[in-house]
Amino acid sequence: MSDSGPEKQPEIFTVTSYERAREVFRQKDLRQALYDAGDVVMADVLVNLHGDDHRARRRLENRLFRKDTHLRYERELFPPLLESTLAPAVLAGRGELVTLSHQIMMNLAALTAGVDRPAGTPEETLRLYAYLMTFIEGATLAHYSGDVPAKEAQVAQALKDFDQEFLQPSIARRTALLKDLEGNRITEADLPQDVLTTLLRNQDQLELPGDVLLREVCFFLLAGAHTSATAFLRTLDQIFVYADSQPELAERAKSDPVFLQRCVHETIRLNPSSPVAMRWAVHDLLLSDGTQVSAGDKVIIDLMAANRDTQVFGEAAEQFQPERNLDRGVAPWGLSFGLGMHACIGQDLAAGADPAGLPPEAEHVLGLVPAAVSAVLRAGGRPDPDAAAKLDPLSARNYWSEYPVLFGGGAP
Ligand code: HEM
Repeated sequence: MSDSGPEKQPEIFTVTSYERAREVFRQKDLRQALYDAGDVVMADVLVNLHGDDHRARRRLENRLFRKDTHLRYERELFPPLLESTLAPAVLAGRGELVTLSHQIMMNLAALTAGVDRPAGTPEETLRLYAYLMTFIEGATLAHYSGDVPAKEAQVAQALKDFDQEFLQPSIARRTALLKDLEGNRITEADLPQDVLTTLLRNQDQLELPGDVLLREVCFFLLAGAHTSATAFLRTLDQIFVYADSQPELAERAKSDPVFLQRCVHETIRLNPSSPVAMRWAVHDLLLSDGTQVSAGDKVIIDLMAANRDTQVFGEAAEQFQPERNLDRGVAPWGLSFGLGMHACIGQDLAAGADPAGLPPEAEHVLGLVPAAVSAVLRAGGRPDPDAAAKLDPLSARNYWSEYPVLFGGGAP
C-alpha cells in the first residue's frame, strides 16, 4: 500500500484577460488540448505536436509561408480561382454566400495544401467538398452527439478514399516534378508552392509515414478553409449592415483596401474561429498572477473574453470599430490567430500583414479574405431584399445556413 496521500485530481483553469491569455499561449510547458477527440484526422498533425517534433516540422513548413509566397498567391494564383468560383453566381445575378464562402476558401485551401483536381470538373470539386466536410466532423468529434465510433469509422473511410482519389495522384505529380528538378529539366519556379511539395522535398529530414502525410495535408485543407470562409461571410455581413446604417463606410470598404482589411481584422477579433484554445500542463508551472498549475491540469483560454478585454481594446471593446486605436504590439485581430509555438501559420496569407506602421509604399500583403470580400463587393454583391438570410438553428455560434445575395446593378 502506498503511503503517499490521495492523488490530486486534475484541475481546469480558465483565463479570460488578454495579458493572461498571452502568457498561457507562450508557455512551453503547456501542450495542445483542443483536438484530443479528433485523432482520427488530427493525430500527429502540426497543431497537435509538441516540443522538438513541433519545432522540426514547423521550421520546414514555415519555408512556404513567406512574404514572396503570399504575394504570389494574392496576385497570381488566387485571383483567377476567385473569379471562376464566383462567375456562375455573378452571371446568374444571384448566389448563396454560405455555399460560395466554402467553395472559394476550399479552392484556396486545396491550392495551399497541394491537393490537385486533375479532372477540373464541378463534380470533382463537390467530392472534395464532401471529404472536407467529413474531415471537419472528424476534427470536432468532441462536440458530436451521435454514435462516435460509427462517425470515426466513416471519417477513417473518407480518409482512405480521399487518399486514393486525390492525394496519391497529387503526390505522383510532385514526385515526378522533383525528379525533373534534380535532373535540371525544370527550375524551382516550375514547382508548385504548397505544403505537400514542401513536405515531399524534405522527406529525408521528416520521414513522415504515409498516414501522417495524409492527415497533415487534410489538416491544412480544413485549417485554411473553414476559418477563412467564416471570416469572409461575417465581414460581408458587417459591410451590408454598414450599407444601411453608415453608407459612407460601406462605400469606403469598396474603394479603400486597407480599410477593408481593417474590417476583416475587426471581424476576426470579435469572432475567433474557436471561442477557446486549450492546453494540458506537461509540467508544474506558476502563472504570473500566482496561479499554480500542476502537470495534468487543463488551461482554457477564453478567446471571446480576452479579445474583448476593455483594458486593451477600450470601453467599446464589444463594438465593431475597424479603426480603433491600439497600443503598439496589440494586433487588431486580438488573439484570434493564437500566439507562441502554435500561432497560425496561415495568418498573413488569410488576413494580410497588419498595415499599422507600414510605409504607404511598402509592398503590403492584403490577405485572401479581404481579396475575396472585395471581389464580392466589386461584383455588386448585396443582400437579396426578397430572401432574408437564415441562421442555422443547430448552431450555437450564429452560423448562417443560407445567405442569399444579388450581384450586378450595384457594382461601382
Ligand atoms: C481567418 C482565418 C484563420 C483563423 C482565424 C485561424 C486561426 C488559428 C488559430 C487560433 C490557431 C492556433 C491554434 C492553437 O493555438 O491552439 C491556428 C493554427 C494554425 N492555422 Fe490557422 N487560422 C486561419 C487561417 C489559416 C489558413 C489559411 C491556414 C493554412 C494555410 C491555417 C493553418 C494553420 C495551421 C497549420 C495551424 C497550426 C500551427 C502550429 O501548430 O504550429 N490557418 N489558426
